[in-house]
This record gives sequence, structure tokens and C-alpha cells, in this order.
Amino acid sequence: MATNADAAQRIAELYEQIRHHDYAYYVQARPEISDAEYDTLLRELRELEARHPELATPDSPTRRVAGQAVLAFTPVEHRVAMLSLDNATTPDQLREFEARLKRAIPGAEFDYVCEPKIDGLGVALLYQGGRLVRGATRGDGRVGEDITRNLRTIPSIPPRLHGPLAHVRELEVRGEVFMPRAKFLELNRELEERGEPAFANPRNAAAGAVRQKDPDVTARRPLDILLYHVSSIDDSRIAGHWEMLEALRQSGCPTSDRAARCADVDAVIDYCRRLEAERDALPYEADGAVVKVNPLELQRRLGETAHHPRWAIAFKFAARQATTVVRSISVKVGKTGVLTPGAQLDPVELAGVVIRNVSLHNEDEVRRKDIRVGDTVLIERAGDVIPYVVHVVAARRPPGTVPFVFPDHCPSCGGLVFRPEGEAYWRCTNSACPAQLKERLLHYGSRRAMDIEHLGENVVNQLVDRGLVRDFADLYGLTVAQLAELDRLGEKSARNLADAIAASRPRGLTRLLNAIGIRFVGERVAHLLAVRFGSMEALAAASREEISQSHGIGPQIAQSVTTFFAEPRNREIIGRLRQAGVAMAEKDVPSGRRLLAGKTFVLTGTLASMSRDAAKEAIHRLGGQVTGTVSKKTSYVVVGENPGSKAGDAKRLGVETLDESQLLELLSQSS
Ligand code: IVH
Repeated sequence: MATNADAAQRIAELYEQIRHHDYAYYVQARPEISDAEYDTLLRELRELEARHPELATPDSPTRRVAGQAVLAFTPVEHRVAMLSLDNATTPDQLREFEARLKRAIPGAEFDYVCEPKIDGLGVALLYQGGRLVRGATRGDGRVGEDITRNLRTIPSIPPRLHGPLAHVRELEVRGEVFMPRAKFLELNRELEERGEPAFANPRNAAAGAVRQKDPDVTARRPLDILLYHVSSIDDSRIAGHWEMLEALRQSGCPTSDRAARCADVDAVIDYCRRLEAERDALPYEADGAVVKVNPLELQRRLGETAHHPRWAIAFKFAARQATTVVRSISVKVGKTGVLTPGAQLDPVELAGVVIRNVSLHNEDEVRRKDIRVGDTVLIERAGDVIPYVVHVVAARRPPGTVPFVFPDHCPSCGGLVFRPEGEAYWRCTNSACPAQLKERLLHYGSRRAMDIEHLGENVVNQLVDRGLVRDFADLYGLTVAQLAELDRLGEKSARNLADAIAASRPRGLTRLLNAIGIRFVGERVAHLLAVRFGSMEALAAASREEISQSHGIGPQIAQSVTTFFAEPRNREIIGRLRQAGVAMAEKDVPSGRRLLAGKTFVLTGTLASMSRDAAKEAIHRLGGQVTGTVSKKTSYVVVGENPGSKAGDAKRLGVETLDESQLLELLSQSS
């Protein structure tokens, strides 16, 4: 049993913490802990105060509803206090809610209205004679802030009511201001592009916008509102909440189209389940459903506690945010060679799933959020979105942490890593990196690379897993006997595969350069390089400047090529490929015969005598290039049957066109 002194000290600590988090949440709009953690603090304080009533003071955080009026705006006293809602998290708690109602008013028949609980900013709008005269934040529930000028900039808030509520002398309506999720994502993208800090969630973005000093700034933020409660109304014959929503709608007030009548608590439970399952389809963030007793007469008789109305309850969806501690940060290599940092966390439950790891995406993300080992981080898992770090809780950073330093070598193979300019990712450049080997071998053997038939996923997996192949060059040392031992590969298939591997030796430099998977070097660039340098030796010896001087090759590609050849393991593999008899020069392109060098072609429509790929290859063989769009620099547009708009482009730009027979003639002349 805690002594009074212990309790007093703990209460003082809790005051301090709760005030700190109120400030972070309401004033700075940058919460440091999840709602659930905040509730835990508040609950602990409430329990302590219940056991030691003499220690509770009038300014205790448990004695105010929530929030904190900030002095920048004029304070306004609400006509009716803006209360919180009582919470339920299980269907049983909803049944208990109904049981309480029935105990309070025996014999009464209850029906309900359920609505989404929008996670935005509660506001009170005051209408007099149908005109909007004042809009206020919730503040501490009793006194809020006058934000009328800001609220007037929100297009969906009617400045004048029409319909049934137009002539009510005085009417106070409550609602939630929010930023639609799609607009929020857009806004954050813009902020990030401008290098400004993004908002953690739509709620913070909306809160920040509504509390701007300058209404013009609010006006530029995409805010919306849904109204859900009439807290005071003169002379009304409206009998139920459902009718009241209808009256609001007819008067020009936006209300939720997800509101539904529920005849009994089973229907209420159904509604809550359904809404939770569909929460990601809502255009706004909803953190629960609000269940309200429909008949206003029953609402009035039930009344309220100091904290919440007795006639309503919020069914809270599973929390999607939590804080936890980063235990380590590690970097993994994906099968395409991308290095991805990830944090290992103290396990924490989020929306029903235990989270132990979270991806940190890339170097910039870690740096921007300054995530360090030892940090407490706020993580979020929204719907089908993978969990991510919202931000670091700066106040909980232990002493002695250091910024994370991205490794300069591959954690899988120790190879050189390379981050192309303008890209977010580091990549391992070692073409034999075990983490990437399977993917790389599949690409090596693919039809447009070395075209090795039968080298499919099943075979590649076995070759790598059995340690028979550690790089491309190992392929050429495989024996039929070794291949025949692989599962599901008989003697005959083994021989076919061995033949296919052997047949790939003379494919030539273009295909080989594409096959070895240098970043940015696909078919087209491989061809340009092969034509320009003629041999692997010449390319490997070329400097960045020499490479980038080639037609169609930019500095980014040049950098990637030189980085590839700087990795000793890559040079070693190329050497072994050469020894295995793999052609290291471009075949069919004796330099004197590259008669189409410098010419660009665009193909449109179908050709009768050859496929588009064959036409491309024929043009490439003679040093020409094939591109996808017609420009003034295009030399020829080849027009086949049923041509597309490119034929018209050619005419417009004055580019020479060739029909199929003219193309064939050109090809035969040149070769
Ligand atoms: S009714 C007297 N309905 O949730 C009852 N509140 O945690 C007034 N909220 O302060 C509240 N959606 O800001 C109600 N459909 C809804 C709501 C809703 C969101 C907010 C509101 C309230 C808070 C309580």
C-alpha cells in the first residue's frame, strides 16, 4: 500500500506529465504519446485521487474536460459545456451501456442512432436567426476560443441556414472539422517538396489550420466539416436525433451519410463492426463510432455526468498508434540490390497485431526523422498500410544516442554500395551478391538478355541453394551430370539446359551488358555502349567522362557503369566469363558496317514480314536507334499497317516516313 507521501509524489508527477502532453497535443498539435497511453496516465491519476481524495486539487487534470484554451484567440463561453464521450471497446461494454440506460429509466423503449466518430477538431457553431454569428473550439469544454473568422473560410459551413432551421432564434450546433485523407496526403507531399515538415496525421493538420492567426492561411487548407449534434435550440418540435440530423441536412448543414438508425443494441453492435471493417474506405479518419439514444426526451431525462452525457457512448476502434523503443537499426539487401534500413522495436500491439520491426525506407527518411537506437518512437499502422514511424518522441531521447550512419558496404556481401544521383536508395553493385543472385541469374538468362532457355526459377533456386552457382560465370562450368541431379530435371532436360547455356556464349556485347545488370543499363543503353565501345575491355577502361560523351548516355549512366567496373568482384566475374568463351565484343557490327549509326527510328503499326522486335534488332545491329516518340530529331518513322498517331506526328514535324518495303531496302543496302 502506497504511503500518502508516495501518492502525493506520484500525483505531482502525473500532473506534470499530463500537462506536458496536453500542451503537445492541443497547442503544438504534435502529440508525443498515443491516445491509449494518455488515457492510462489519466486513469492512474483518477484512481490515485479516488484513494486519496485529500490530495486532489481543483486544478487537477481530471477535473477538466480536456484541452486547454490558448490565449491567442478571444475566449468564448459555450452555451452548453462541450463534454467528452464515455468509451466502450467491446460489444459487451455496449450491452452494459444499454443495461445502464434501462436501469436509469425502467420500462422505456430505446432506439439509437450510430455515426462515425470523426477524428478531427470539435467545434461549436452559433446561429442566430439562421445566420452564423460565432464559431468556437472546444477549449477546456467550458471556455473555448473564438475562431469564427477561420471557420468562415471552410466552404461546407453554411453562413446562412435555410429550410426548417432558418428561423430559429438561437441554435448551437456541434460538429467536427477535419481534413479529408486524400487532401492531407496531397498537402504533405507539397510540404515535403518544399522541404517543410509534414503533419503527422490529418487531425494535426486540421488543428493547425483552424488555429491559424491569419484566416487566409486557413482558407488555403482543404478543410471540411460534418455536423452531428444540436446542443441548444429554441422552440423545436423535433422529437429525435435522427429527425434532427434530417433537419440539419435540409437546412444546408453537412451531416454524415454513414449515420444509421439502429432499433436495438444488436443492430448497434453490427453497425460498429461494419464501420470498423470499412474505416479505411471512409474519406476521413474515424477512430470509432458514436452511439446515441435517439429520442430527445430520453436524452434529456438521462442527463449527463460532469464528464460525459449518459445517453451517448463512443465505441473505439482498435488503436493504430503506439509508442515503443528502437532497440537496433539494421540494413537489409533486397533481391534487386536495394539496401533498406529497418528498426527492431520492443514488441508492441497495434490494431491487433504485434509489431517488432518497422521499415525505415531509406537513408533520407532516417535522417529527416533523425531516428536513433534508444529512441522512443510513435508508430502507426493504418489499415492495409504497413507500419511506419510517425516521429521520434524528442522528450524521451536518452543521453548518449548518436545519429544513424548508413553503411558504405553491402551487409550481405561486403560489396561496394552506390547511390545514384537523384535516387533515394543505395544499391549493392556486386553482381554476385548472394542476396540478389537468384534475381540476377533469372535476368541474365531472360529472353532479351542471354536468352538461356530452361533456366527458370526452379532451376535457379536449386543451383544457388546447392551452392553450384555463385555468379554468372559459374553457369558455364556446370556439367550435364550436375544438372541431371536437380529435382524435376531428367537427363534429357539437363542436356537441353546445358546446350542452352553453351548457346548463349556468342550472344554479343549488347545482350551481355544488359544481362549483367548494371544499374540504368537496359537494352537500349547496352546497345549504345556496345556500338560506341565495341568491346568489354574498352568499356571497362573508359572514364566517366568518356562514357558520358557517347550519344544518348548521361552522367548518371556513366557513373553507374564506372562504379560497376570499380567493384573487384565484378571485374573478376567478367574475366571468368571471357575464359568460359562468352563473347565480349559486339557481333555483327564490324565498325565499318554501322551504316545506320546516328540515325533514330520510330516504329508504328504492324509489319508484315517481321515482328517489331526483329525490326528493332535489325536496326540496332546496324548501329541505329529505335525510340518511342517522334521528335524533330527523329530520322525516320517506319509506318506499318494500322499505324497510330505517330504517323501524323511525322507529317506534322516534317520527319521522313518509310513504308515496310523502303525499310527492308534500307536494311539490305546497309548490310
Ligand atoms: S457527439 C454531447 N458525435 O468526439 C455529445 N461527437 O470524444 C457531443 N466526435 O467532443 C458529441 N464525431 O469532438 C459526437 N459523430 C459524433 C462525433 C463526435 C466525433 C468528437 C467530438 C467529441 C469527441 C468526444
